[in-house]
Amino acid sequence: MRIETGNIAVVTGAASGIGFGLSRELAARGVSLVMTDVRADALELAAAGLRADGVDILSVAADVSNEKSMLHLADLTFKRFGRVDLLCNNAGLVGPSAPAWEQTLESWNRLIAVKVVGTVNGVRAFVPHMVERGSGHVLNTASSGGLSVLPTRTPYTATMHAVVGFTETLDAELRAVSPKLGATVLSPGLVDTDLGRNSQELGAVTLPAGSLTSIRDFAPDALTAEEVARAALDAIEAGLVHVAPGAGVLNRARARVASLLADLEIATR
Ligand SMILES: NC(=O)c1ccc[n+]([C@@H]2O[C@H](COP(=O)([O-])OP(=O)(O)OC[C@H]3O[C@@H](n4cnc5c(N)ncnc54)[C@H](O)[C@@H]3O)[C@@H](O)[C@H]2O)c1
Repeated sequence: MRIETGNIAVVTGAASGIGFGLSRELAARGVSLVMTDVRADALELAAAGLRADGVDILSVAADVSNEKSMLHLADLTFKRFGRVDLLCNNAGLVGPSAPAWEQTLESWNRLIAVKVVGTVNGVRAFVPHMVERGSGHVLNTASSGGLSVLPTRTPYTATMHAVVGFTETLDAELRAVSPKLGATVLSPGLVDTDLGRNSQELGAVTLPAGSLTSIRDFAPDALTAEEVARAALDAIEAGLVHVAPGAGVLNRARARVASLLADLEIATR
């Protein structure tokens, strides 16, 4: 897909981090935006900043894990813009760090609701219209954890793997309908955002008192949200299904695939 002036994009989790970076980068390319987030006040602040630069924005507070909320968002979007060219299912959270056998069902349910069901809700609300028009693209934000293994983060890793597999399958289904339809999964390494703080605000995690608030504090080579957004949009334009910016991400994915293939080769001898 070519991203052009006059396109319409929906971005979930747009109040902060990668979602705000995507919004800003899309706006710079002349795209009109539907910005949405469950944190209504933060969303309005983020949208106001871009509106001040003259960007055409519809901002709607919505919870991606809630089907009705997403169908309402789609309704408002089609009333205002008539179509959607790019859907960015980006909203997300982190939960507590612990081995798999100590992760609570509450943490599992929250990540499944936001990352997996949230992505499904976005696709079900918007993609039928893209299919009807015969063009459009879906960008799903996963993580390098969706291409590799992150010990102490099973709910995060497993739901990110689900988003990767979901996107690969969705892309195959969309391309079978039309070469102008497709999907891309964004699986970055560490990005300098407020993911921990926002997840705490949403009740998903309790950060230790006095803990570091900036990812850059412990990962100086963390990417900026803008760098990640540019990599994602460039990948969409290049027709790629996967994009995984960040130091070491390619090597971790390579190691996982190599060990997977090595086991399968032994097991099938
Ligand atoms: N920051 C990183 O290092 C990193 C690395 C790889 C992947 N990711 C993934 O990227 C995605 C975006 O994260 P980020 O780092 O920009 O964090 P962020 O906290 O800055 O942005 C995420 C946004 O999603 C919103 N959100 C959470 N639950 C929601 C819901 N139910 N409905 C609607 N909005 C909701 C939050 O309010 C927040 O504004 C997440 O899925 C995250 O796991 C982040």
